[in-house]
Amino acid sequence: MDYSIETTPLEELQCDCVIVGVYQDQQLSPSATVLNACTQGLIKNIVNRGDLSGKNGETALINFIPDSKIESILLVGLGENKPLSGKNYKKALVAAVNSLKKPQIKSVVCCLAECDVENRDRQWKSRHIIEVFSDAVYQFTHTKSDKETESKIEKIAIAATETERALAYAGLVQGKAVAEGTDLTKYLGDLPGNICTPTYLAEQAIELGKKYPSLTVKVLEEADMAALGMGAFLSVSRGSRQPAKLISLDYQCGEKNAKPIVLIGKGLTFDAGGISLKPAAGMEEMKYDMCGGATVLGVLLAAAQMQLPLNIIGLIPSSENMPDGDANKPGDIVTSMSGKTIEIINTDAEGRLLLCDALTYAEHYNPDVVIDIATLTGAVGVALGRITVGLLGNDDALCNDLLAAGEIANDSAWRLPLWEEYQEQLKSSFADMTNSGGRDAGTITAACFLGRFAEKFRWAHLDIAATAWRSGQIKGATGRPVSLLSQYLIGRAHSGS
Ligand code: BES
Ligand code: MN
Ligand code: ZN
Repeated sequence: MDYSIETTPLEELQCDCVIVGVYQDQQLSPSATVLNACTQGLIKNIVNRGDLSGKNGETALINFIPDSKIESILLVGLGENKPLSGKNYKKALVAAVNSLKKPQIKSVVCCLAECDVENRDRQWKSRHIIEVFSDAVYQFTHTKSDKETESKIEKIAIAATETERALAYAGLVQGKAVAEGTDLTKYLGDLPGNICTPTYLAEQAIELGKKYPSLTVKVLEEADMAALGMGAFLSVSRGSRQPAKLISLDYQCGEKNAKPIVLIGKGLTFDAGGISLKPAAGMEEMKYDMCGGATVLGVLLAAAQMQLPLNIIGLIPSSENMPDGDANKPGDIVTSMSGKTIEIINTDAEGRLLLCDALTYAEHYNPDVVIDIATLTGAVGVALGRITVGLLGNDDALCNDLLAAGEIANDSAWRLPLWEEYQEQLKSSFADMTNSGGRDAGTITAACFLGRFAEKFRWAHLDIAATAWRSGQIKGATGRPVSLLSQYLIGRAHSGS
């Protein structure tokens, strides 16, 4: 996709489609007013005829414009004529791009950066247009014979005046980086488990390191992990024919002595549940259990592309979770790298077994903060639905920063309590803890488990089990929360700390 800023006046523009906004009560946006004037009142006619009421998210495509170099105009309803909320702005953009999945539309000029959005500037709007458009045109065709995609859009230009150009361009650069990171995360999530193995994920990380010299990639093998004493992590991979990998990505563009931000992503390339086997229905979707890891790759891609002046470490513990003669059995007790012992009462609670050793390993880096991202519990969907990411952590300031970043990015998170009282549920008669707290508050007890390995630093946990994937008709990876985390990093780079 080619993204650019377009400063040519609308009267002289040549393209397949121009997107302009219309507010309720037949009120035209500035660009719609200009286009209306140079098309002998065409837009007013359509709106007055009642073809578009101006409700947010409504669209009308005018696909014949007499005597014009513009082939078509897409009118998008924006709602009331006042500053839009960030959410409504996104809704209008999604509606716009979804109505442009037509064979004849290849080049698009979007005039929606002129709309006022509450507390947001042009840079944000420009970034958001790119993120939303890129997300909507993404289609996974890698394993299909027919590579045709519904959208034929090749070029997206954001309309701006000369004075707006610099801010709009800054947003474009960010938007492109985040969109590319999100695309990578979605692509890896959509790949099947027989292609996207731990080895494949490691190769992808190595490729990323070749593309961005600021990223140094290292892959720890099972023998290295055994030497480090990662007994919890290795107990999961023992049941799989695929060798486990601990992928580390080192991005050092901050001050030499600045403590790094560590991102840890769960990389289960297939989670069958192990001996505590999952039911057959829907099990094919468990290929997306590596989306936390894929998010780490996506976010580091975005950070490297934006050249953020930060030090960031990405860690991706990657394995399969399979039933096997050598797999973990319920009742087995393993010793984690921290020395703490764990009674595995449910082999399907495997993510935390990988993550606990990765958290202990993160201590090596003397981190400023550690954020883990994991498709950890089905329970997060019960608590919060598929709308928002579950957030838990041991540091209020870090959690608030992540909540704020999610708000700005339109990629929200919501915090759940991590109180002492919940720790009770992890009591074991035979080891220091069990690996499952049972049904009640499953997302919280999973985080309680992780928290026991994150006592030495500021830490937050994002449970993305319900938001990283879309089920139903158009199923696939969503790329969340690449945008939230990219925004967090942009904020950190900005504050210089
Ligand atoms: N990968 C799953 C969590 C999951 C569930 C992700 C649904 C995506 C969709 C995780 O490994 C798991 O199986 N968790 C168990 C924990 C339980 C055994 C304590 C769960 O959520 O049932
Ligand atoms: Mn599981
Ligand atoms: Zn899992």
